[in-house]
This record gives sequence, C-alpha cells and structure tokens, in this order.
Amino acid sequence: MEPLNDGVDPASGKLAIASLDQLADGSLLEVEAAVDGGAESLILYREGDAVRAWYNVCPHAGRRLDWAPGQFLRSKDGLVVCAVHGASFELGAGECLGGPCRGESLRAVPVVVRDGDVWLA
Ligand code: FES
Repeated sequence: MEPLNDGVDPASGKLAIASLDQLADGSLLEVEAAVDGGAESLILYREGDAVRAWYNVCPHAGRRLDWAPGQFLRSKDGLVVCAVHGASFELGAGECLGGPCRGESLRAVPVVVRDGDVWLA
C-alpha cells in the first residue's frame, strides 16, 4: 500500500475522519462522518496512540453530549458529562457511571489509526 499523505486512502478513495494532530493526548474531538450511509456526529477520544470513538448520542434521551458542537464537559476525574442532564461516562468502554442512565453505555464506532490519521474500521 502506498503511504498516505493527504488523508485519502489510495485503495478506497475514502477520507480519514481526523488526523491525530487534531487530537491531543487525553482530549476529545467531535467529527462528522458518514457511517452506514448517514452523516453522524462522533466523539473521538485519544489515549496515547490509540483512539476510541462513539456516536455523540446520550443513551438517556438520545441527545448530543456536547453543549455546543465539539464542546464537551469533563469532570475533574476525566469523565465526559452529558450537557443535557449530567450523565457521566468513562472513556474506556463508554459506560455511564453516574446520572439517569447509569449502567448503560455510549454506542461505540470502530476506528483504526493508520499513518497518523483516524479511519472508520
Ligand atoms: S440526555 Fe444525556 S443525561 Fe439526559
């Protein structure tokens, strides 16, 4: 495979959904991406060289978690907090640890990191 140099996969023509350069270690990034044919808002979370992704949809009432596009509330211990009713989610499995949907989880989206870019898996 040829190296990627502009976020375009030469084999498929698909675009990367983000560059690792946009995502500082430990930070969150909201991106719009086509998933299963529909445009979706996704939350990306970087931990070292790994990136996890979830739909930006709270399992409590189906609302976005960010209070403005890409603006997420974080607790002192690093949980992401839904801006609507305050559910808090850990950023491993995306499980709600407190609030109205405790025990439920964000819906994960498989992604891979390749050549400094993040791709839908
Ligand atoms: S919609 Fe997220 S806590 Fe209610």
